[in-house]
Amino acid sequence: MDFSFSEEQLAIRDTIRELVQDRVAPRAAEIDEKAEYPRDIEELFAQNGLLAIPFPERYGGISGSSVTICMGIEEIAKACVTSSLILAVQALGSYPILIAGTEEQKERLCPPLAEGRVCAYALSEPGSGSDAAAMQTTAKRYGDEYVLTGSKVFITHGNVAETLVVFAVTDPDADHRGISAFVMEREQSPWATVKLEHKLGIRGSPTAMLAFEETRVPVRNRLGDEGFGFKIALGVLDRSRPGIGAQALGLAEGALDYAVGYAKERRQFGKPIAAFQGLQFMLADMATQIEAARSLVYLAATRVDEQAPDLTKVAAMAKLFASDMAMRVTTDAVQVLGGYGYIRDYPVERMMRDAKITQIYEGTNQIQRLVISRALLK
Ligand code: CAA
Repeated sequence: MDFSFSEEQLAIRDTIRELVQDRVAPRAAEIDEKAEYPRDIEELFAQNGLLAIPFPERYGGISGSSVTICMGIEEIAKACVTSSLILAVQALGSYPILIAGTEEQKERLCPPLAEGRVCAYALSEPGSGSDAAAMQTTAKRYGDEYVLTGSKVFITHGNVAETLVVFAVTDPDADHRGISAFVMEREQSPWATVKLEHKLGIRGSPTAMLAFEETRVPVRNRLGDEGFGFKIALGVLDRSRPGIGAQALGLAEGALDYAVGYAKERRQFGKPIAAFQGLQFMLADMATQIEAARSLVYLAATRVDEQAPDLTKVAAMAKLFASDMAMRVTTDAVQVLGGYGYIRDYPVERMMRDAKITQIYEGTNQIQRLVISRALLK
């Protein structure tokens, strides 16, 4: 077996499944309609220990396993992708500390995050998206502090986070080797939200443009040595990309479940539309693609947990395959529902809108192909 789940992981999954059915699923349509960050869901997740999943026990958490994180994200995304980002981005924002922090930094910074202090990850800038090394935000050192100046865009939860991992240039002459990573804590290093984006999908998940205007960050909050920030940023994405795969997987499962239920109920030409082979074949293709994506997502998460040498490649494959699959499956789910699929009274059009972002964030699928082909050809 390339992957398997422990009893403990299955128990966590079942608890999350129940919580999602009872408390998240009934809120999903409203969260999308109002495009409001679901603070109630964040609190629910914090109270029930979901935000402790990204952390090992010694840092106040309950797991720290990528497989467990993916199981949680998948379960939540079946009902509400916006809500699944609350766990996904908590993992994304924590990974830099977990993989590059000193023991002192992990012991100081992780327990509050495990208890529910929201964190975020700030890499992209107006002129630096796929080309992440082209960032312009600067960090200049003055004694025990760095002074950060610049802006970041498309920062999921950037406005609601209390802890922000920021990448900035400490040596403008050293290209990607001149980038460093910092942890900003809002109390001592406040940042400004310049703008919140209006989006096609994941509408309840705030996507913020942030500004740093000579914002001070203590040297003790730098992660790793100066100049290692770019490697940290990419190392984090390697570990978090299976989570986007899991999000896409959950989303597609939610869409298939709904389409199957609808096809059995909806009658045309005197019988349920599920009796027509054209529709049966669509459902069969959807289910098959989902199972293939599931294998790849949990293989990638397992590779992350094992620190396997090929984790960069397999994580990119999982994100690429699962997100392209989710786009196809949710589009087909809309097709199964016909005109009803296209209107807001039914959830599949939201799922189709939400699926699109999984092909874009945490590296576009073109970047995933680049990462995979570089690994093959190096
Ligand atoms: N881990 C660690 N280091 C790595 C690495 C990895 N996976 N891949 C490359 N590196 C190192 C290389 O070894 C090299 O270092 P040295 O020169 O010191 O040896 C350095 O990084 C530069 O490597 P490349 O020349 O390959 O870098 P590049 O600039 O050509 O390409 C890239 C890098 C793969 C395109 C990268 O920029 C990338 O992944 N871009 C996409 C960015 C991205 O995913 N953004 C998402 C934002 S976060 C988000 O979306 C979150 C959200 O909202 C939820």
